[in-house]
Amino acid sequence: STPRFLVTQEIPEPGPSILREAGEVDVRHGMSAAELEGAVTSGDYDVVLAQVSDRFDAPLLARARIRGIANYAVGYNNVDVPAAAEHGIAVGNTPDVLDDATANIAMLLFLGAARRAHEASEYLRGGHFTGLRPDLLVGQDVTGATLGIAGMGRIGKAVARRALGFGMRVLFTQRPPHDREVTREELGDLADHVTQLPWDELVRESDYLSLHVPLTESTTHLVDADVLHRMKSTAVLVNTARGPVVDEKALVRALRDGEIFAAGLDVFENEPAVEPELLELPNAFLLPHVGSAEAGTRAGMARMAAENAVAMARGEQPPYPVQP
Ligand code: GLV
Ligand code: GLV
Repeated sequence: STPRFLVTQEIPEPGPSILREAGEVDVRHGMSAAELEGAVTSGDYDVVLAQVSDRFDAPLLARARIRGIANYAVGYNNVDVPAAAEHGIAVGNTPDVLDDATANIAMLLFLGAARRAHEASEYLRGGHFTGLRPDLLVGQDVTGATLGIAGMGRIGKAVARRALGFGMRVLFTQRPPHDREVTREELGDLADHVTQLPWDELVRESDYLSLHVPLTESTTHLVDADVLHRMKSTAVLVNTARGPVVDEKALVRALRDGEIFAAGLDVFENEPAVEPELLELPNAFLLPHVGSAEAGTRAGMARMAAENAVAMARGEQPPYPVQP
């Protein structure tokens, strides 16, 4: 029979064309959790083309009558992957294609936070600019500073290459908090240019700390009050990974009390909610989860997610699978 696809948010081309060529497409954005559950358990759909805001936990997966979940994202912490496997539900993601876009937004965030871009912009728009002043909006040095990368996967490496171009010293912990030694082969072109350190030392040494870990049990609140306390008072924290990697309440206190200089965040602990105090802090440079929001990147993600969905609907192995 004709495959039926549920799409939970409008995605760009070529996603819709690929899906329509293979079957029937229902786009139902703004579904509540209950509506999603109703749709997934109804037997009306073969595959869900999902967003990271759509949660597929074990109880839902046990009742789901679908063949697959094609996530429109590289991250898949919204899906209980072992539970999906147990119920014969395939899971796919969109790796690689968004590495550069996410690394670009990490650079934007740490330059913006270090150089006080948000404050400076408000100052200008507020009509306060009266001319050049030596003490006006002085930020932190970038060139010559030390960048610590937490999670040296594909995105971490893309950030490292950019930072080297800015004349930064690059340190990393491969898999905080409990590290695994990385070989020169794994580091490839970066092998002579980056240094691996244990997480504790990375925290202490970094002028900039950029998070590129997946969200798991061991990375939840990886950056907590204790870590923030051990960071330099001049340090900048950047999070383009997942909000719960940082204890957002502890971060508010650290930013307010000057325990660190600034933070640049593209992700939040309880999206779309943001700690209200964070919105008031001038040293928080905040973006609404736009890490992969480059036109070509989003088209690539749409193609990959749609190809995953079509393969799953046909009972084939998806081209970009998530392994349990
Ligand atoms: C976005 O956050 C993604 O995981 O692709
Ligand atoms: C994480 O998603 C990575 O690939 O670095």
